[in-house]
Amino acid sequence: ADGPQGVAMRKGLAFGAAVPSNLLNRSAEFRKILARDCGLLLGNNELKMAVVMPEPGRTDFAPADSVVRFARAHGQRLRGHALVWHEALPSWVAEQLAKASPAQAEDFLRRWIDTAMGRYRGMIESWDVLNEVLAGYGPVRREDGLRETPWLAALGPGYLDLAFRLAHDADPSAVLTWNEDSLEHDFGWVEARRARVLTRLEAMRKRGVPVRRFGIQAHLVSDHPFDAAKFRRFLRELGQLGVGIAITELDIDDKAFPADPAARDKGVADFARRFLDVALDEPALLDVVTWGLFDGDTWLNDHPDHRRPDGRRQRPLPLDEAMRPKPFREALI
Ligand code: G3I
Repeated sequence: ADGPQGVAMRKGLAFGAAVPSNLLNRSAEFRKILARDCGLLLGNNELKMAVVMPEPGRTDFAPADSVVRFARAHGQRLRGHALVWHEALPSWVAEQLAKASPAQAEDFLRRWIDTAMGRYRGMIESWDVLNEVLAGYGPVRREDGLRETPWLAALGPGYLDLAFRLAHDADPSAVLTWNEDSLEHDFGWVEARRARVLTRLEAMRKRGVPVRRFGIQAHLVSDHPFDAAKFRRFLRELGQLGVGIAITELDIDDKAFPADPAARDKGVADFARRFLDVALDEPALLDVVTWGLFDGDTWLNDHPDHRRPDGRRQRPLPLDEAMRPKPFREALI
């Protein structure tokens, strides 16, 4: 029977997952499920600055190369993640940015983007140029709603447009993406973020900024409210701006679901289905990507916001820790 990718392909969509290169290189079983279920891959940390240039003068593309090599050998499309982000920023880069003039900071950004995108020109089809640029949960101090980051401090609010223009120069054929978190649930502060995305994106498109895709991370949380109608409207409005939409980091924190694994898996699958029923109705939606493919490879057990005090391990992904399909995978299909 067809896996999620087979089903997606017949609809002109792609299904894929973020993967760690070390596991890819180590586990034949992991390679098997990736080849079976995914038509698209990306490294989850492999193309972050912290991995590629951990210290001045040293670049390491080996982890990213192994993801790229595997995907190409298996006819899978590739995403690149992420060129401009405030996390995974090596401390030496943060220090350089802090003392750089805007021209120096721009030069640094251009060289980084040229190096990363240039290496994979014609291979990595779409890039997250910007990741998480809006202020998140908590008080938003700036009127423009931007997150305060070393990039903003060094380059000013123009860095959003600038990053897209530099990325377009580096690889004019790449699909350039703005990837953003916290846009899914039904909270007032989330609604304000959705409005900010639409206003900003519309202005960017009018200015001719080459942003072609909008990425919705979709880190869903079991006890957070989801309003299908509001989310549907947001997707429609994004689509009307002429950008393609990707679900880029889907997973479901199961912390509020019952302890029993079967009940938990049902809760996760049901939430996934509610979410995807809305997302897949939107004609501008092109890709669905999960943040990991199996429960043994989730970031949620390591993060203080998601780790449970009782040590219970999360079951947020389509396959379980033994890489066996779960109801979430059925829901995807
Ligand atoms: O590789 C080192 C290892 O050598 C060291 O011993 C260990 C000690 O902490 O750290 C390892 O690196 C960690 C890396 O994950 C690999 O596990 C980093 O400290 C840790 O910061 C890193 O976390 C990643 C995080 O982004 C920050 O880059 C997560 O794996 C990754 O899942 C997470 O992904 C983000 C997306 O990029 C953007 N959206 C949110 C999403 C979840 O936070």
